[in-house]
Amino acid sequence: MSAKIVQNMLKSAPFSRLYMSQIRSKATLPCLKFEYKDLEPIISRDIMEIHHQKHHNTYVVNYNNTLDKLQTAVAKDDTAAIISLSPALKFNGGGHINHSIFWDTLTPHSTKPSDDLNKALIQNFGSCDEFKKQLATASIAVQGSGWGWLGFNPQTKKLAVISCANQDPLFPTTGLIPLFGIDVWEHAYYLQYKNVRADYVNAIFEVVDWDAVSKRFSEASI
Ligand SMILES: [Fe+2]
Repeated sequence: MSAKIVQNMLKSAPFSRLYMSQIRSKATLPCLKFEYKDLEPIISRDIMEIHHQKHHNTYVVNYNNTLDKLQTAVAKDDTAAIISLSPALKFNGGGHINHSIFWDTLTPHSTKPSDDLNKALIQNFGSCDEFKKQLATASIAVQGSGWGWLGFNPQTKKLAVISCANQDPLFPTTGLIPLFGIDVWEHAYYLQYKNVRADYVNAIFEVVDWDAVSKRFSEASI
């Protein structure tokens, strides 16, 4: 099929609608690999249940609603409407991505970084404890709501600690591949830790799933 024919097909509204409906699948709330109570006493059952079923699910619902609006705007060739959906896509899509990574990198079981990840942490931060200190400091310092992240730079092959505001997704906004993030929105800790964000951030290292983080590092650094 020639490029010209493909271009003409893409320009046709019926094809656009068909194309969008075919490539589009609904985002879904991922199941957790542990029970809500299993991260106690670090994170309470109530926080886990509300955080997952209410907060994360709201991002999923709003992301899907925004994609529906995008599908309609694309079908109408409404460029202004497409552009106006960008903030909602970033916020709700980012919320879905961030929380999905968050659940996957927590565990009630005792784990430790792989040899490769441990070596990288030492090379980039001096020690694993120094890495934790830097991530905790960056996370605690987030003004308002946001996330602290351990990311992997695919260009330099180095690890980095960075924070993001709101639900900004790490890779689309910084180019860093997310390995582990700490949610410092108040909904992640306020019911248990009240206003003492530092206690929550320092405690969460007790429930990091280093097996999952190491797997993400291994996949990112290929
Ligand atoms: Fe959250």
